Amino acid sequence: MAYSEAQVLAGGLAHIPVLIGLVGFFQKFHRSINKKPGKAGLTDEKSVKQPPKPPEKPSAPAKAVKKPAHANVPVNTYKPKSPFEGTVTENYSLLKDGAIGRVNHITFDLSNGNPQLKYIEGQSIGIIPAGQDAKGKPHKIRLYSIASTRYGDNFQGNTVSLCVRQLQYEQDGKTIDGVCSTYLCDIKPGDKVKITGPVGKEMLLPDDEDANIIMLATGTGIAPMRAYLRKMFEPTEREKNNWYFKGKAWLFMGAPKTANLLYDDDFEHYKSQFPENLRYTKAISREQNNTKGGRMYIQDRVLEHADEIFSLIENPKTHIYLCGLKGMEPGIDEAMTAAALAKGLNWSELRPQLKKAGRWHVETY
Ligand code: FAD
Ligand code: A2P
Repeated sequence: MAYSEAQVLAGGLAHIPVLIGLVGFFQKFHRSINKKPGKAGLTDEKSVKQPPKPPEKPSAPAKAVKKPAHANVPVNTYKPKSPFEGTVTENYSLLKDGAIGRVNHITFDLSNGNPQLKYIEGQSIGIIPAGQDAKGKPHKIRLYSIASTRYGDNFQGNTVSLCVRQLQYEQDGKTIDGVCSTYLCDIKPGDKVKITGPVGKEMLLPDDEDANIIMLATGTGIAPMRAYLRKMFEPTEREKNNWYFKGKAWLFMGAPKTANLLYDDDFEHYKSQFPENLRYTKAISREQNNTKGGRMYIQDRVLEHADEIFSLIENPKTHIYLCGLKGMEPGIDEAMTAAALAKGLNWSELRPQLKKAGRWHVETY
């Protein structure tokens, strides 16, 4: 019902007001889906017949439309042809005993840049690994999500941190190491590294202190979420930003083993300090089973909490962030489809609306 309404809305038919008047809940829901903070809701504008508006002057936007929240985002301060040379300040393992693979937290000093490379939470940087490829050409750039806030782990505003998993796979009986991820996991404090960027506007946080932030991360997809959670819950960050998060943050984290959970102690600490504001739900694929007896993935957790998740999505201030393995996207879609259906909603129609409203954020690789 609700989404046949949405279809009608999209087609621009004239009888929607009657439907909306009849179905109060769905009206509220649609409004929430289409409202973007700082932007007039699509439903409000299109579904209710309005008297014709006078044409807007290009230089004077309508009063209801605020300035876009992300107007001054730094992008490509350093380009591939003239990268910045950052200095490694630390490089340590994020894994505990018994974990699978290699995942490191790596920090670079940016303070000698002219201009200094500045970034905001949710952006990525490019790394050009040292050396040459098989054809004797410089290596290509690889992108990495930034795991620190704009103030950096030391709160000085002159560092950037990454969370990097070493790529390793077997081919023809040999173990192949990923070029850049191995380079990064091996570098030492004092080493110089070519950095480009920052790039990306997909994963930025909303400005509202009372936004709700649902985070779905697998493995190193936790990187931007770590930055968000620091901004929300680290006392020094709160003061520095003069931003006191009051909404609900809900992190779904997928890892193969408990020992592979990244930044887990920090998140548990935030949860203990802000029990009303942070929920933290883990899917430990090789230690827990889903209801079908298979590996527990975050989409299984999403299904378990479908009702609460969709209640949150009804709120126009709720944003969903998805980051990590590309392979999780179909699974998340499937879970959201089933979860939406339980509420009488159609995810394939709802998702593009959330995306259009700037509330559905995806960065997978
Ligand atoms: P490469 O040497 O480039 O090897 C990769 C290639 O190996 C693949 O293209 C494929 O051809 C081949 N390959 C890979 N697996 C297999 C396999 N199983 N069998 C056969 N061939 C295979 N990574 C992180 O660790 N942390 C992050 O925060 C992060 N953020 C990212 C953000 C964005 C926006 C993007 C696009 C990517 C991100 N990545 C992140 C991934 C990162 O950019 C690199 O792709 C990754 O580190 C691998 O690079 P590499 O140079 O080590 O591997
Ligand atoms: P698994 O590898 O057990 O199948 P990491 O990057 O540290 O390996 O963590 C990635 C996590 O995401 C692992 O728990 C991994 O499970 C899980 N995962 C793998 N494939 C998918 C998928 N298609 N959907 C959701 N999670 C996945």
